[in-house]
Amino acid sequence: EKGGYEHFMLKEIHEQPRAIREATAARIQGGQVVLRDLNMTDQQIRDINKIFIVACGSSYHVGMVGKYNLERMLRRSVEVCLASEFRYSDPIVGKGDLVIVISQSGETLDTMAALREAKRRGAHILSIVNVVGSSIARESHTVLYTWAGPEIAVATTKAYSTQMAVLNLLGLYFSQVMGTLDHEVYSAMVRGIEKLPEQMERILEQAEHIHDIAKRCAGREDVFFIGRNLDYALSLEGSLKLKEISYIHSEAYASGELKHGTISLIEDGTLVIALGTYTPLFDKAMSNVVEVQARGAQVLALTTESHAGEMGKRVPMLMTIPDTEEMLLPQLGVVPLQLLSYYIALERGCDIDKPRNLAKSVTVE
Ligand code: F6R
Repeated sequence: EKGGYEHFMLKEIHEQPRAIREATAARIQGGQVVLRDLNMTDQQIRDINKIFIVACGSSYHVGMVGKYNLERMLRRSVEVCLASEFRYSDPIVGKGDLVIVISQSGETLDTMAALREAKRRGAHILSIVNVVGSSIARESHTVLYTWAGPEIAVATTKAYSTQMAVLNLLGLYFSQVMGTLDHEVYSAMVRGIEKLPEQMERILEQAEHIHDIAKRCAGREDVFFIGRNLDYALSLEGSLKLKEISYIHSEAYASGELKHGTISLIEDGTLVIALGTYTPLFDKAMSNVVEVQARGAQVLALTTESHAGEMGKRVPMLMTIPDTEEMLLPQLGVVPLQLLSYYIALERGCDIDKPRNLAKSVTVE
């Protein structure tokens, strides 16, 4: 049932090219995003007042990426909320507002409670869910399924990727109705999404290289992930993946925050995983690398093929992803981070598919 893979997690990492194709191919026709399952009229979309994204864990991290991308595509502010906080915050949400709920299982208790609270106050609930017919799907006004297939490993991989893909499609679709995105950017995004499966395959071919890096990192007890903008959103997921399956203490920081406290923790030999995929801020990413190296950090960097030469001059431990549209970088960037966590956990002999204290579906508070 593991299809020849040692763990479900590795199998599911490798299923991502197919899962992304399933989630997107039928929703793109002749260069246009077509969402047949979106039962909202153009008028309803144009009339959307506030936009919220509500979720837990990795699904919340998708929401972080979604905030950057939807704000850019729609030029509207988007609030991302942890479901466990939203539900008790007496949220300022109501009629005319759109609440995007993200959940793989569709059964997460806090997410469900947040959904009910927003619904009770009159908001339109649009959920992005993997498990068909799950409670969250049933209670939503609109459901967009991720079509990732069953996810068995506790640590999410293909659900995360497909949630992000669906959120990007939703943003593109709304941008068309709202008339907010430059036509060129829209078309480039659609072409970029169509190329993702093949580009993911190329990243998966680097598995052995990433395994070698993992062997060098597996003995650490503290790791810091840093990044800016979309790389910051991605660092949250990279850090969570690592800590949940390898039990290494790991933290994600917005690079610009280093100087406001965290840099005091960097000493000789501290491992810093520097994300430098987001092209517009590549120079900033480089200067943060130099800054932590000056304090003795050992850096592992993630960047795009076109920046690998420059990053490689400063950083010997390097993982690369193919170049793509800016807003799609986390779709590719997450794959090497998943592999890295997987191989580090493997080297440490951890119970990868069932990490201690964790459940696949969190139906208690
Ligand atoms: C981490 C992970 C969890 C889930 C979270 C929400 O790998 O899987 O953080 O993302 O428990 O679960 P869903 O998406 O089912 O609501």
